[in-house]
Amino acid sequence: EPGVSTVIAVDGPAAAGKTSTCLALAEIFGLRYLESGRTYRIIAFEALRREIPVDNAREVTGLCDDLIRESRSAGLLTSERYAPDKLRATPVNVAVSAVAKIADVRQRVTSLIRLWAKSQAQCVIEGRDIGTTIFPTAPVKFYLTATPEVRAMRRVRQERAGSYENVLEDVIRRDEADMSRAVSPLAAAEDAIRIDTSGLTLDQVVSRMSSACLNRGLEI
Ligand code: DC
Repeated sequence: EPGVSTVIAVDGPAAAGKTSTCLALAEIFGLRYLESGRTYRIIAFEALRREIPVDNAREVTGLCDDLIRESRSAGLLTSERYAPDKLRATPVNVAVSAVAKIADVRQRVTSLIRLWAKSQAQCVIEGRDIGTTIFPTAPVKFYLTATPEVRAMRRVRQERAGSYENVLEDVIRRDEADMSRAVSPLAAAEDAIRIDTSGLTLDQVVSRMSSACLNRGLEI
C-alpha cells in the first residue's frame, strides 16, 4: 500500500463539512488535497451526458476505463475540465450513488487514488472509504458527522443548492445509499477521530483537526 505514511484520511456523510475543513487543514500544513467524491461525480456526469444507464455496471465500468485512458490515469482525479456547479447539480447527485456502488468502478478509483498519493509528500484526502478501505493504516483519520438537518441547512446557505426540503431529502437518501452498499460502505474506521460538527463553527472543527495532527507528529 503506497504513500500510506503521508495520508490524512477524512471520511463522513454528505455535506458534513469535509471539503471546507480539508481545504483549511491542507493550507495550514502545506498538504496537497484530494476530494475523492469528485471522481465519482465526474463518472456520473459523463454517464448522463453520454446517455449511459448508471445502473449498468458493465457500461459504466467501460466508461470509467475510457475516462481514465483519456485523462492519462490519475489525471482524472485532478481534471479541471469540470466546473464544480456542474458536478454538484441535482441529476449528478442522484446518479452518483448508483455509480459509486459498482465494485469495478470503486476498484479503479481506489487504484487511481493510491497512485496519486504515492506521488505526494503529504496529503489530505476526503471521501467515504479513505480510512477504511483505501488507506487503512493512515496515521491520522477523521470521521466528520453532523445531523442531517444541520448538513442540509449548511449546504443550502453555502451553495444555494435548492430548497431546504430537497437538499435534506438528497442528504438522507445519499447517507442511506452510501452506508448500505455492499462494497466499501460509508463507516468510521475504528481508529478514526470522530467529530460531531453540528454545534461547531468551521474554525472550531479545523482547530480540533489540526491539534490532532500536531499530536500525531505532523509539522506545520
Ligand atoms: O463527497 P461527495 O458528496 O462529493 O461524494 C459524492 C458521492 O460519491 C457520495 O454520495 C458517495 C460517493 N463517494 C464514494 O462512494 N466514495 C468516496 N471515497 C467518495 C465519494
